[in-house]
Formats: sequence, C-alpha cells, structure tokens
Amino acid sequence: MKLTRYLLAGIGLFGLMQVIPYGRNHTNPPKLAEPEWDSPATRDTFFRLCRDCHSNETSWPWYSFVAPASWLVQYDVDEARSHLNVSEWGRGKQHGEDAAQMIQDGEMPPSYYVVLHSEARLAPSQLEQFIKGLQRTFGEPAEDDHSDGHAGHEH
Ligand code: HEC
Repeated sequence: MKLTRYLLAGIGLFGLMQVIPYGRNHTNPPKLAEPEWDSPATRDTFFRLCRDCHSNETSWPWYSFVAPASWLVQYDVDEARSHLNVSEWGRGKQHGEDAAQMIQDGEMPPSYYVVLHSEARLAPSQLEQFIKGLQRTFGEPAEDDHSDGHAGHEH
C-alpha cells in the first residue's frame, strides 16, 4: 500500500536524521567569569529567561536530543553564546549593552522559547525592573553608532 510505503520512508528518514552528529554536542563548557551584576535579582532573572542560550549553564530539554529539533537548538545556543555569554565574561566581544533594547523590542527571549518555557514569562512590572537592572549592569550602547565615515558616498 502506498500509505505504508510513505510511512516506512518517513520512519527511515527520521532514523537517518538521528545519526547525523550535529546537534548532539550538549556540552556546557566551564564557567569562567560572570559580569558584575548590579543586583542578585538581575542575575536571577537573567538565569531564568536567558541562561539556556546565553551561558554555559544550558539545561538541554528532551527535544534537544531529537533531530531535527536538536539541530535548531544547537544552532541557537552556539549563535547566542557567540553574541553574549555570561559564563565567559571578558572573553571576546560581548553584546550585553544591547540586552535591554532587545527585550524592549520583543526580540529576546525569542517568542518560540517563551512558548516552550512558561517560566520565561514575566509581568510587565517585573520586566521593567529587569530591563533597568540590565542597563545598570551592562550600560547602554553608544548614542551615535553610525559614524563610519562613509556617509553620502554610495554610488
Ligand atoms: C532560545 C535561545 C535564546 C534565548 C532564551 C535568549 N536568546 Fe538572546 N540570542 C539568541 C540568538 C540565537 C542570538 C543571535 C542571533 C540574533 O541576534 O538574533 C541572540 C542574540 C542576543 C543578543 C546580541 C544582540 C547583538 O547585538 O548582537 C543579546 C544582547 C541577547 N540575545 C540578549 C538576550 C537576553 C537579555 C535574553 C533573556 C531575556 C535572551 N537573549 C534570551 C538566542 C536566545
């Protein structure tokens, strides 16, 4: 029967996906140094909302062991850590000063993460406190970030 064949092919494909090594590197590298948090509350909230992607203390959910979800999670965590990793403070370029703005713009934490992690939902007043705490901890981006000297000279 056609349906059976599709089903078997689907199962086979799913099985093959599991063999691909990418996405199974669920290591948490050592914790080196953290930023100087302005308060324990800011740290607590960061660890509640952002830790899984922006630290070396990721808790890997069950679906992060099953391809193709594992690929997405792996990619996200690698990307996120490369932009901002509060476990490797002082190493490389960190974008902490953008954190408050990312939250205000609704970009962080990513909406799909919030759907899967109800603990990442905050009341507006808590969120406001958290944003202030991030600004005190990381400072804010320089006002004029567009002065690259090329103004008005495109084609
Ligand atoms: C599900 C994973 C995930 C969670 C949870 C998450 N982030 Fe991110 N974050 C990313 C990824 C992926 C990137 C890099 C790609 C991008 O900029 O969208 C990123 C980028 C960033 C950046 C860098 C932006 C820049 O200027 O380069 C900041 C700052 C940031 N996140 C802050 C936060 C904060 C604060 C939280 C918690 C409130 C948070 N993120 C939660 C995945 C996550």
